[in-house]
Amino acid sequence: MFLDFFKSRLRPGFFDGACDMHSHILPGVDDGIQDVGRATRALLLLNRIGYKKVKLTPHFMKDYPENTRANIEARFQAFLTEVGDETPVELSLGGEYMLDSCFMDRCEEGFLTLDKNNTLVLCETSYMSADPQAPNMLYQAMLKGYQPVIAHPERYNYASMATYRRWKEKDYLLQLNLLSLAGAYGETAKSKARALLKEGTYDYVGSDLHRDKDLRDIIYSIRLSNKERDQLQRLLENNKEL
Ligand SMILES: [Fe+2]
Repeated sequence: MFLDFFKSRLRPGFFDGACDMHSHILPGVDDGIQDVGRATRALLLLNRIGYKKVKLTPHFMKDYPENTRANIEARFQAFLTEVGDETPVELSLGGEYMLDSCFMDRCEEGFLTLDKNNTLVLCETSYMSADPQAPNMLYQAMLKGYQPVIAHPERYNYASMATYRRWKEKDYLLQLNLLSLAGAYGETAKSKARALLKEGTYDYVGSDLHRDKDLRDIIYSIRLSNKERDQLQRLLENNKEL
């Protein structure tokens, strides 16, 4: 509580011109938003926070075998036609790839990446444990020229600060889920997120939005120290390069 005295809330304007690089808004393809109306509303709500670009990053995992690259690209093209001029943000397509038995198949067909150079691939593990083959899968992907970005590391129950340091030593990049800072995934994820943010360990920040929810109240309830706010600003600048 005493330390909170030195922290201040994020204010409207902080996200002006920002790029959200992790979202589940492409409708009807995973556990995210299911219909075009809600997807359009979610994009509008992100724009009200200040976002100008949004990357749609549906789940690729064995639970969604129909989510091949070709199918998701076709769904994205259809969605662009469906939303037409109704969206105030620039849209692009990426993916969030689970490190499971499907990962190497998806690697073979080519990942949907986050960046113009076609190298950054958003990866995740389950929250409880990582596949023992995960390090090898990432190594194989790196041999093919991909640069792994680990989604929401603060949310993995099995990972400690030492784990995160090992990941950085392996040259994995790390992506913060913004709402972790507000405690949306529990106190442990929140304290890990704050520690990683303060240490400058993260590289990118995303919303990981799954619903057409107005996030303004929760975002503007986040209190950060000057150092934490500077770090978050740095991540938003990194996002703009994508
Ligand atoms: Fe996600």
